[in-house]
Amino acid sequence: MYRDGARKSIWQNEIKRLSTENDLTEWFDTAIVGGGITGVSTALKLQESGQKCIIIEAANIGFGTTGGTTAHLNDFFDTTFAQVIKDFGLENAKLYAESGKDAIQLIENNIRRYGISCDFVRKSAYLFALDENQEKQLKDIVTGAAEVGHEMLYVNEISFPIPFREAVLIPAQGHFHPIKYIKALCEAFIQLGGAIEEKCICEGYKEHDDYIVLTTSKGEIKAKNVVYATHIPPGINLLHFTNAPYRSYAMAFSLKDNDYPRELGYDLCEPYHYYRVQEFEGENLLIAGGEDHKTGHSDDTGECFSRLENYVRKHFDVETTYFSWSSQYYEPIDGLPYIGKLPGTKDRIYVATGFRGNGMIFGTLSSQILHDLIITGESKYEHLFSPSRIKPIAGFTDFIKENASVAFDYIKDKIFVERIDSLSEIKPGEAKVFRYESETYALYKELNGTFHLLRSTCPHASCEVRWNSAELSWDCPCHGSRFNVNGKMLTGPSTKPLDKIFPFQKK
Ligand code: FES
Repeated sequence: MYRDGARKSIWQNEIKRLSTENDLTEWFDTAIVGGGITGVSTALKLQESGQKCIIIEAANIGFGTTGGTTAHLNDFFDTTFAQVIKDFGLENAKLYAESGKDAIQLIENNIRRYGISCDFVRKSAYLFALDENQEKQLKDIVTGAAEVGHEMLYVNEISFPIPFREAVLIPAQGHFHPIKYIKALCEAFIQLGGAIEEKCICEGYKEHDDYIVLTTSKGEIKAKNVVYATHIPPGINLLHFTNAPYRSYAMAFSLKDNDYPRELGYDLCEPYHYYRVQEFEGENLLIAGGEDHKTGHSDDTGECFSRLENYVRKHFDVETTYFSWSSQYYEPIDGLPYIGKLPGTKDRIYVATGFRGNGMIFGTLSSQILHDLIITGESKYEHLFSPSRIKPIAGFTDFIKENASVAFDYIKDKIFVERIDSLSEIKPGEAKVFRYESETYALYKELNGTFHLLRSTCPHASCEVRWNSAELSWDCPCHGSRFNVNGKMLTGPSTKPLDKIFPFQKK
């Protein structure tokens, strides 16, 4: 398995093992936990500055969200400039606007410096309103953008066959192939002497005055600094209450008329749909995304794909559906990412999370911020994106305010279990959480009749997992840990599997 789900993403063919031969008893300047775009970009930047770094990845490079993103590169974000002006002030909003431009520039610099071939293209984007309410939102977005000096131009036409009321063109956006990109960054990192340890689960850390000891599945690793590039770090931290896990769905289609949109596209539905084109084996494919929901909060995740596909087929002349997959991202409670020192720790542990749907941009930006904090002790972004900040949430949309429910799931989940009277109630391909005596269990029946029985209590903080039929995984609604049908951990913050009772066959 090369990705954290049962479905194959359009990027996945490019994933390969990148572990180096390592002596884990050596000392490292910085240990980076997590082999997605955030971890890999940060490791390379620090190694370029003369540090000796190691990337520790629980599965393989690109296993998590970087292998499941749709890899849009935008310098306008899910949290609008208007919203940031309102909640954080105009000067902070201008800095926020600068961050997107900085991130795309960092990607371009890496591509140039290392001669990376990763299908990077600069493109304009259309943002379009489909109804009156969205029209008002668009007006707000454009007004906020103008205040921070970000260019958005009203247009009468868009290159998408979708009826719209109003639209703007946003120049100089882009997209790329995320796995080709981070694979090349890893190769550059290795060339510079960097170490990569795949299939190594980081279970926790011990802080000392001058260094950190990481406890991992392959023994202790010592480093002067640690970066958690895992979305949410293990343990229980302030960030578990200020970030909520979401899943987004993506599909890739060929079109009958070969009339692919030239630009990137986004509507303003809640959650919104997003579009781009990617060449795959010599043929263009339209990638569409949307149907986001909080992880573990959809009764039928397969339905999310059906709704997305129906929506795309309504507007485009679809020939074939080639790929369908989903991936995870985190919503921060006040709309801005958390990049910097991990709250509640001394000075040597860093984190980057809460990127909303802008993971490629904020993951890349994190590499600069964390590099600057570790090497020079300061960054121009350190206050704006501080993981310890307390900011208002009153102005945020219902979609974001729902994040606040994260703390309540713990209680609610204790009653989110079903009773089954006999195993025969479970049909092939079905799964259930049920209570037996005082314990709760997660049971999945394969199409061939094999049962997989696990304890359903998430090892992280004891919420009850829920079934994700689309990715054949058990997902925790509290902080987003995910496990496969055998209980194996796919996504943290849990560092442990679900307790396995047994797989067995019943006629
Ligand atoms: Fe925190 Fe499951 S991820 S309780």
